[in-house]
Amino acid sequence: MVEGVFGRSDAEIDLLVRGMRSGIAVVGFGYIGTVIGAVLADRGWPVTGIDVRQSVVDEINLGKTTVPEPGLSEIVANNVRVGRLRATSDFTAIADNGFVIVTVGTPLGPDYEPIVDDIEAAARAVGKNLRKGHLIILKSTVPPDTTEKLFKPILEEVSGLTAGVDFGLAFCPERIAEGQAIKELTSIPIVVGAVDELSARACSTLFRHALGVESIVVDDPRTAEMVKLADNLWIDLNVAMANEMAKVCDRLGMDALQVIHAANSMPKGSHNVNILMPSMGVGGYCLTKDPWFVNHLGESLGLELSIPRTSRTVNDAMPAYTYGLLTELLADQGKTIEASKIAVLGIAFKNNTGDCRLTPTKYVVELLEESGCGLAIHDPWVMGEEAHMVTKIPLTADIESAVNGADALVVLAGHREFHQIPLARLAELTAGGCVFLDGRNSFDPAAVRAAGFVYKGIGR
Ligand SMILES: NC(=O)c1ccc[n+]([C@@H]2O[C@H](COP(=O)([O-])OP(=O)(O)OC[C@H]3O[C@@H](n4cnc5c(N)ncnc54)[C@H](O)[C@@H]3O)[C@@H](O)[C@H]2O)c1
Repeated sequence: MVEGVFGRSDAEIDLLVRGMRSGIAVVGFGYIGTVIGAVLADRGWPVTGIDVRQSVVDEINLGKTTVPEPGLSEIVANNVRVGRLRATSDFTAIADNGFVIVTVGTPLGPDYEPIVDDIEAAARAVGKNLRKGHLIILKSTVPPDTTEKLFKPILEEVSGLTAGVDFGLAFCPERIAEGQAIKELTSIPIVVGAVDELSARACSTLFRHALGVESIVVDDPRTAEMVKLADNLWIDLNVAMANEMAKVCDRLGMDALQVIHAANSMPKGSHNVNILMPSMGVGGYCLTKDPWFVNHLGESLGLELSIPRTSRTVNDAMPAYTYGLLTELLADQGKTIEASKIAVLGIAFKNNTGDCRLTPTKYVVELLEESGCGLAIHDPWVMGEEAHMVTKIPLTADIESAVNGADALVVLAGHREFHQIPLARLAELTAGGCVFLDGRNSFDPAAVRAAGFVYKGIGR
């Protein structure tokens, strides 16, 4: 039976949480749910992952995960083995857990609108199993008012209980970045927007003890929902600015990274200027959709916003720009793309992850496939099925075979493995005058040139 957490005094919640006497159910055991669930289990909590995909449930119960986050497989394996982590598709498991964290997906629709169908379905399933004393924490990225005007009414209607009276309810955006999610989960402050003060306090207590992070409590769920969108709009716009700066620097023959590094030394407000890195594109499940959530929100409020559309348009144009750079570089070597052999290194949407969801690398690979060039693709992080999101060409298993005889190496994800093979060895394997296009600016240009390559980065 559930050890109710909502409605208790601060001291009682503190004791309950410290003693880990209450279990945590994580509804939606995808990328984010698995990271959160596994880390909480690793910190000693009994965690039950609940997902509608039986394949995910079976995999977890075998101690495995296909979520390509560094360090996650080991944590899942260890915690399933010792019995702290398990998964099920049976929502009645909710009744046995005091805390329920919901992390189902919120994709973008065909008209760039947020699709919240999974939120509705999860609310119904959770509502059916809701008991007095539960604390429900929604973490999926959603437009403002989703918690209070969609999620809460369904929970209340289905359960017959009242939020803020019988059970606690809060929205806490998930702000971790793939590739460093485990570290960030235990270091980034949690933003808490709850329907009442007791829910907010219970939430803050949980995250303070469970993850060791402080909470920033905002007025209500809708403010917390807006925080997440503001974070991601800032990132997307900042990168868009870096990308346009990079294009300008490139034309002027200067190194955009030197410009950015020096520009970032200027204090402004309470921090320094912080221009992010230009790259061959912005991808992944969040940055490609959250600015559109803001755009859609603006439209629903009768506002014509420019920023989300602009940041998305600029960043979406980077794969074609990168392909254009490649054709120019080859032309400078007296080569055409169709007669060249190109080795693509990395197709994940960012460095050191195997996630290919909405990766900008797909568009570069598509252009290469259309060009008729000889193409080899290598990514040590991306597993078979995931690769099909990007290309039907089978991946080349080892880097040496992929780069063998290549006229150009195109780094689309700067995985750490690519830095482990000596540049001199890569140069030995490739054709003379080989182009090295560093789409992630992750290599030292001088070192690449010294190895004999024709180097080019984005804006350098
Ligand atoms: N991936 C990221 O880096 C990231 C970062 C921060 C926030 N977010 C947000 O977190 C949310 C989840 O993202 P994700 O990347 O983990 O998505 P995901 O698609 O990997 O995981 C969602 C999971 O929910 C499951 N699901 C769907 N409907 C369900 C239901 N009714 N009941 C139970 N399970 C259900 C799916 O089967 C899937 O396993 C999204 O709103 C996303 O925007 C993602």
